[in-house]
Amino acid sequence: MEQITALCKRKGFIYPGSEIYGGFANSYTYGPYGVQMKNNLKQLWWKMFVEDRSDMVGIDGTILLHPQTWKASGHVDTFNDPMVDCKNCQARHRADHLAETKMEGNADGMSLEALGAFIAEQGIKCPKCGKQDFTDVRQFNLMFETQMAKTGEDSTAYLRPETAQAIFLEFKNVIDTTRVKVPFGIGQIGKAFRNEITPGNFIFRVLEFEQMEIEYFVHESEWEMHFKNWVKAMYQWCEVIGLEKDKIHELDVEGDALAHYSKKTIDLEYEFPFGVKELYGCAYRTNFDLTNHENASGKKLRWRDPQTNEEYIPHVIEPTFGVDRSVLAIISTAYEEETLEGGEVRTVLHLKPVIAPVKVAVLPLTKKDGLPEKAERVLKLVQSFGNCEYDEGGNIGKRYRRQDEIGTPVCVTIDYDSLEDESVTVRDRDSMAQERVTIADLKTYLADKYFA
Ligand code: GAP
Repeated sequence: MEQITALCKRKGFIYPGSEIYGGFANSYTYGPYGVQMKNNLKQLWWKMFVEDRSDMVGIDGTILLHPQTWKASGHVDTFNDPMVDCKNCQARHRADHLAETKMEGNADGMSLEALGAFIAEQGIKCPKCGKQDFTDVRQFNLMFETQMAKTGEDSTAYLRPETAQAIFLEFKNVIDTTRVKVPFGIGQIGKAFRNEITPGNFIFRVLEFEQMEIEYFVHESEWEMHFKNWVKAMYQWCEVIGLEKDKIHELDVEGDALAHYSKKTIDLEYEFPFGVKELYGCAYRTNFDLTNHENASGKKLRWRDPQTNEEYIPHVIEPTFGVDRSVLAIISTAYEEETLEGGEVRTVLHLKPVIAPVKVAVLPLTKKDGLPEKAERVLKLVQSFGNCEYDEGGNIGKRYRRQDEIGTPVCVTIDYDSLEDESVTVRDRDSMAQERVTIADLKTYLADKYFA
């Protein structure tokens, strides 16, 4: 993790947030390469799950929803984690995580009292100061509250802790204004906020993050079939973005570990450098959310089947994908320190071309004799593949290494021969093999080999 975090900072993928003030609350800024990569990921998701499917549409809802949303959804009452404070150093901890350091399995389902008693009996100490002097265990609601300026008795609003609820609120608008028919889904990408007690592991658990979520509306009798299909689709997505199948582990979430809205959840866990942890989830939310919003709002949130005339509240399958965890999984999978012949170590990110922040780097061998002008023309040619980079500074070997480190799949070098034979050297990131290709053939060559 240290090497990955260092690379992300050094190469402009991800910086600690508010760094000039000493950092702030486990927040991170995506730098120039990071945001490019994250945008590639989100565009790919949107294309694969919204544009390329006739049973899907998308929305972009607000972060601040009507406060009644969160009462009806159950988040005000149940979106809690158990917490203790260290009386000595005031550090705040997840009580279940502390207990889990002394037990096999997890502490899900233990009451607050049982957690407190277990921590005391086992002599578990504060991970920060080493003392054993904790407050009672209490529930902590993870939603960020804010105050609205409008007058009124209760001006409390919440930053959404999941993007999903914006979709449920627009269910009626979508069926009234589009040609969708159950089964169909609504996708959305956007920010979510959670007041995590113990954030950590870089961008794995943060307070402000992005989700790519689908609420897929089905007839209750068909939920199992759709659930299976979506889990399969999630595996396909993992492959498309370059994750390794062997590193994915399915967890059938059981009992109290299930979210309050879920009847069945499969988590796709991934082998991160710090252990096997949740990457994505697929939940069967029944008709819990639509029913609660129908009751709370008084508006009918139902579908009438045009063939059978049956009217019902659809059930929901929810595949959910964390953007930041995707980025972390992709970078940690792609990262390699490769020892070359002669002992030199090169750092390389084996990113899939579709994810890579720079698609092609164009490198004139020198800054003079007309090579930059020729290189500029080649750059224009390859920019149709996406974000490309032009770099004319320094030793060519160093320039290749720089591109390897940010995962650029291919470099194109313009040398003196290029002025004579209208050809360039194409250098592959992974094999480091070099091939001579005419400028006339370059686009087709790159399209076939990297950007098909
Ligand atoms: N709408 C369902 C939902 O929000 P979740 O399992 O709580 O389910 C979905 O969150 C995904 O969001 C997770 O699988 C993970 O990828 C991501 N996620 C959740 N909390 C996060 C956090 N604090 N930091 C970064 N990503 C997070």
